[in-house]
Amino acid sequence: MLVHTIDEVREQVRNWKKQGLTVGLVPTMGALHAGHKSLIDKSVSKCDKTVVSVFVNPIQFCPGEDLDKYPRTLDADEKLCTDAGVDLVFAPNPKEMYGDVNIMSNDFLTYVIPPFFYVNKLCGKSRVGHFDGVCTVVNKLFNIVQPDFAFFGEKDRQQLIILKKMVKDLNIPVEIIPCPIVREDSGLALSSRNKYLSPEDKVNALALSKILFNIKACYNKGITDVEALTETAYSYLTERHSLEYLEFRDADDLEEKTVADDNTIVFIALKIGDVRLIDNIAL
Ligand code: PAJ
Repeated sequence: MLVHTIDEVREQVRNWKKQGLTVGLVPTMGALHAGHKSLIDKSVSKCDKTVVSVFVNPIQFCPGEDLDKYPRTLDADEKLCTDAGVDLVFAPNPKEMYGDVNIMSNDFLTYVIPPFFYVNKLCGKSRVGHFDGVCTVVNKLFNIVQPDFAFFGEKDRQQLIILKKMVKDLNIPVEIIPCPIVREDSGLALSSRNKYLSPEDKVNALALSKILFNIKACYNKGITDVEALTETAYSYLTERHSLEYLEFRDADDLEEKTVADDNTIVFIALKIGDVRLIDNIAL
């Protein structure tokens, strides 16, 4: 069932809770693909009822980013959800979520701000305010749906770590379930933004996973020095790639590593033309 209002969600969830059923939430921005579907499948198998939210959240986009051209495919998303056994698709518009507040101004909305240490690095460095928007909308979705479990992909690992921290720090009664990255056979991590890539640039995009897989192979052979591991990346980069970061960080608190260990995540972001892609791998 597809609903657009908070009231409809609350009424449905109230009925389920009265029956003692568990509720899983999969927050998304739509343009659903097999990566999203893996989260949905996990929720459907773990929880009695599954809610998928589809909302292109304007407050997590920075000025000049792709808010207007972000793919919106609600009919196809609804079909994927129905076929996968989802019980409720919640697709609000910005007014339903934020009222008449001018969301492009930070002056009129209560925000959830994650700690500076978690956002002053990796994607947070170039996307200033992005994680404030993510935490605020996810907190709102938690309050609206009141799920027992919420499912997030390791594809957006910094987001996952920040949301876990938010849940812990604010004592939100939800259990976050991390889900592994779904990749094409080529290695490319699925992403709604892959739609922006030309066939040629889709091949260029393989650099991300190749770099990460190679670093992991080197680590498995015993190389732990981060400088040495970083150097292995450069042979995969061409003039078509603009590397934003390649960093080795702790899986729990994002502290930088100079020597890699089994609790290290390697994070990469690069631009191909105008398209910014991210990926990561656990060592
Ligand atoms: P979106 O980019 O639509 O992603 C929704 C969820 O799907 C996220 O948890 C993301 O990590 C997961 N996901 C995307 N691609 C994946 C892949 N290839 N493998 C596994 N999981 C994948 O992330 C957001 O939306 C938003 O920031 C949101 C949390 C919904 C808040 O607006």
